[in-house]
Amino acid sequence: MNSNNGKFIVFEGLDGSGKTTQLAAIHKYITKEKGLKCREEREPSESLPGALARSAIKKQVKFAPQTMALLFAADRYEHIIHDIKPYLNEGIHVICDRYVFSNLAYQGLELDFETVYECNKAAMKLLMPDITIFIDTEPEETMARIGKSRVGNELFDKEGVAVRENFYKAFDFLKEKSLLKNLLIVKGNQSEEAITREIIKYIEELL
Ligand code: TYD
Repeated sequence: MNSNNGKFIVFEGLDGSGKTTQLAAIHKYITKEKGLKCREEREPSESLPGALARSAIKKQVKFAPQTMALLFAADRYEHIIHDIKPYLNEGIHVICDRYVFSNLAYQGLELDFETVYECNKAAMKLLMPDITIFIDTEPEETMARIGKSRVGNELFDKEGVAVRENFYKAFDFLKEKSLLKNLLIVKGNQSEEAITREIIKYIEELL
């Protein structure tokens, strides 16, 4: 686990769950209200393996499920080393849109969790979140939000129900391996402000 000064805070949820909005609100809270340094990050990141994974998500190229898991995991490893760890080591908080839970939830649609876990072992050894926030918005609602025109354009657009279930399975799977601490599950069908208040209440003592 991360024993450095900066806290590593991860946001997870389906596309359209509201995690990006909440990430921005929490970034504002940490920097403006608390006066602390904080960086916003996201996965897949800007690394080369990340770019390949993004191309596959956009259906421009196709990889085997195992390759997809490895690409996201390789992106994660690069991301940790270059864009996350150095800042945590300087006492800067890092909040990240998606992390290893997404790998289990999405690649776990086609692979078993142990296989995805094996791909991520090196990255997870380097860093696990201090706080994980899952914004649980009903798949029906997320589909409506991302817009009917986009649904189907990306690889996992139609898998909402199964991905949501897999997130819950992923949390249990990692809890069993003692790799998960400080998980907050927030209901996504509340106002943006109510969700932000719930997250702030949870993280303020942990910062
Ligand atoms: P997303 O956050 O939606 O980025 P963007 O706003 O650029 O579309 O993430 C892109 C997709 O990648 C999303 O559908 C989930 C998927 N994904 C995985 O399948 N595995 C992973 O390990 C990660 C981090 C994301």
